Amino acid sequence: MKKILFVFTSAAFFAACGGGDKKESAENKTEPAKTETAAPDKSQDPDYQKGLAIVAEPKNLCLTCHKIDEKLVGPAYRDVANKYELNDENVNKLAEKVVKGGSGVWGEVAMPANTVISPEDAKAAVRYVLMLRNK
Ligand code: HEC
Repeated sequence: MKKILFVFTSAAFFAACGGGDKKESAENKTEPAKTETAAPDKSQDPDYQKGLAIVAEPKNLCLTCHKIDEKLVGPAYRDVANKYELNDENVNKLAEKVVKGGSGVWGEVAMPANTVISPEDAKAAVRYVLMLRNK
């Protein structure tokens, strides 16, 4: 009943500010709101693309131990993303671990220190990883 009332009052409202045209454009405008719960597509984000390029760079070796959705030597990137929120604190912490190496969070296997990646690239790579969150 509330919904019907809302539709009625908003229709009346748009009708009040004049003409069928306006009502139609208002309807079009409200359309995307229904799909708002779907995860936004982050793959077009420049940070995502930059980080992906670093992760995919063969000399960085990330993809020899990590896959997006499956555990390999290291945890699936999707699992990492679902564990840590994307914020500066987590990006800095995880980027430091990527550079220095470390263990104990996902199991017995350690991630070795990465001697070729710059701290800035490590941050960009981690930022991309954390954008894979889907939960
Ligand atoms: C030799 C294999 C190996 C390589 C190469 C590697 N990783 Fe890892 N990575 C691991 C392992 C093993 C873990 C789990 C460590 C743990 O349990 O604390 C891990 C964990 C991580 C984590 C989560 C850390 C945490 O504390 O939760 C991130 C983020 C990560 N790796 C990113 C990267 C990136 C980015 C690269 C490339 C620059 C990379 N890894 C290269 C093996 C690797």
